Amino acid sequence: MKSVSKFRYSQRKINLNKQPIIIAIDGTSASGKSTNSKLIAQQLGYVYVDTGAMYRTLAWHCLQKRIDVHDVKAVAAVCRKWKTELKCVAGDFRSVRLLVDGYYPEKEVRTAETSAAVPHVAAGPKVRDWMKKAQRSCIEFGDLVMEGRDIGTNVFPETDFKFYLDAHLAERSARRAAEGVDEDLAKRDQRDSQRAAAPLMIALGAVIINNSGETPQQTTAKIIAEVKRRMAARG
Ligand code: DC
Repeated sequence: MKSVSKFRYSQRKINLNKQPIIIAIDGTSASGKSTNSKLIAQQLGYVYVDTGAMYRTLAWHCLQKRIDVHDVKAVAAVCRKWKTELKCVAGDFRSVRLLVDGYYPEKEVRTAETSAAVPHVAAGPKVRDWMKKAQRSCIEFGDLVMEGRDIGTNVFPETDFKFYLDAHLAERSARRAAEGVDEDLAKRDQRDSQRAAAPLMIALGAVIINNSGETPQQTTAKIIAEVKRRMAARG
């Protein structure tokens, strides 16, 4: 198993002229980050990274091990010890999975119980350090579309390709309800925005897109057009 200390690129300063392109997609819950990031990955042939799933995996693992998710030190200790591995898998697009003890808890991380636990786990500074290293190491897989809350502000602040998605609360709540998930999004956004460690913020230089009333295809087209414009401007 690969331990976190072996994540290869974590501490290096990345020169994006030589290194892979990172498209950072941050934003509020149910603002279309996942749908758009997957479409972008598919259309550009980039690797998709869902960082929320990584935090969810830790929350699920803590629940499995009966660790109190409110106990910051106990959760940080789990992070130091858990046996994880990042794996890039092929499909309609390539995507990165965080495996724990060789297992990918795809369904388990989407339960209401895990969703309720994850903001607490994600608030710990040590957890965020661990995640940042793991997430930065994903560049070993190639050009990335990485979605989360702090990708443009904290994980890859040096990238030129930052986007912040949002939509009206009523529309976001309707999107979640259509997925069969009943969640207080306003409360979750408040937690994500007000925590001390790497809060949800609009990154400097990010393009802000309010996609209320737009189809994912329209939003994705806007993002790809802007990425291409910025690439052309860089020469
Ligand atoms: O995007 P999501 O709903 O799967 O995210 C799950 C939780 O993890 C959510 O409360 C925000 C948090 N998160 C975070 O703090 N930083 C990230 N980069 C991604 C997710």
